[in-house]
Amino acid sequence: MDKFVIRGGNPLVGTVRVSGAKNAALPCMAAALLTDETVTLENIPDVRDIQTERKLLVAMGAEVELGYGRAHHRTVINCAKLEKPEATYDLVKTMRASTLVLGPLVARTGHARVSLPGGCAIGARPIDLHIKGLEKLGATITTEHGYVEARADRLKGGHIVFEKITVTGTEDLLMAAVLADGETVMENCAREPEVADLAALLSKMGAKIEGAGTSTIKVHGVAKLRGARHRIIPDRIEAGTFVIAAAMTGGDLIVSGCDPKHLGALTAKLQECGVKFTENGDSVRVMGDGPLRCADVSTEEYPGFPTDMQAQFMALATQVDGTSVVTENIFENRFMHAQEMVRMGANIRIEGRRAIVRGKTPLSAAAVLASDLRASASLVLAALVADGETIIDRVYHIDRGYERIEEKLKGVGAQMRRIGEMLPRKAPLAQQA
Ligand code: EPU
Repeated sequence: MDKFVIRGGNPLVGTVRVSGAKNAALPCMAAALLTDETVTLENIPDVRDIQTERKLLVAMGAEVELGYGRAHHRTVINCAKLEKPEATYDLVKTMRASTLVLGPLVARTGHARVSLPGGCAIGARPIDLHIKGLEKLGATITTEHGYVEARADRLKGGHIVFEKITVTGTEDLLMAAVLADGETVMENCAREPEVADLAALLSKMGAKIEGAGTSTIKVHGVAKLRGARHRIIPDRIEAGTFVIAAAMTGGDLIVSGCDPKHLGALTAKLQECGVKFTENGDSVRVMGDGPLRCADVSTEEYPGFPTDMQAQFMALATQVDGTSVVTENIFENRFMHAQEMVRMGANIRIEGRRAIVRGKTPLSAAAVLASDLRASASLVLAALVADGETIIDRVYHIDRGYERIEEKLKGVGAQMRRIGEMLPRKAPLAQQA
């Protein structure tokens, strides 16, 4: 298992480029299941979750071709043959987003068998809303031996009102509805840019969709979809992580290749903290030279403050003047990073869904443990301002969603290194006998 060693204290200066959005790429790859023609996706990030999704598609019988050289971020998918419409436990347990294949598989093949994901480090995360929605579209669902099985000769359009806003739930049902017979209306949908990006791909494939990116989506089902070529939107969470890194280290950083419109809630909050920004087309420049002050933050569905930026904001809050209250409304257990930051000298008290962060405390390097993807990112941020060398263990979590983060951060001045696991020392011969 790799570790990161980070020596804090350097301001981040220069330009860092953002990769494609993991959370848009995952549903777009699943959308390739909806056609027997070829789907070409550009700007696919080179991260672990994408590798897992490739394995998932290949296990079903799809042909997945990876780009190389200058086409490194291109993935070409052909799902003409789908011999095994199944997502096994092995793959779903390593990546919950595997459940995104449920809707498209049943829509295209009339049958899907997908392992139930179970809990994860940040909360229970059930998929009941995906299941209820598919039932509304006429699928028969059975749950047995830890697997959900969905069957339908052809799905039928229906009226779905989500009890709770769900991002992958909206995406899963959107992919089911595009091949259903008749009109589907979905209300209380997620408005995340990743949902709109999936809809943009589906429209290129011939789907008839109105309202993606708003809370009501209407779909006129079609009998067949064709192949398409699509470029994935930039990763707003990766961009936001770099923005906070610049602000915390007192740097002057251009975060390029992003969409500043998708960062609105974050930049508004950071401006409240005293961070200065300028926007220029597809980049933002962050100037973190002035004093920073506290601000309260409450996570919400898009366009509110993203839960995927909560941990990183908490790292920043340890370094500003005053007390910030961070409220997590989306997931019930997403404060695992707080205790690791406390071990580095932060003053954080957790009260249920609220974290009270008293700044500004000097952080000192320690050995810390990454517990999930965004928690790992927040520990990298804390380490960038800590005194001494922090060692972050279990960085496979960060590799799930950040492409070569150590190289990107090193390129703008961070002192950071990836190290492989040390091999245990060989026992002396006498002991081995
Ligand atoms: N929920 C249910 N039932 C469902 C589905 C969701 O109760 O059937 C609940 C969840 O337990 C949670 C809330 O609804 O409390 C919102 O969950 P949502 O379904 O929106 O989350 P998700 O689709 O599983 C995506 C991202 C997450 C991101 C959340 C929230 C992908 C692949 N994942 O997850 O990204 O945190 O939306 O914005 O798009 C990450 O990238 O680190 C990450 C965790």
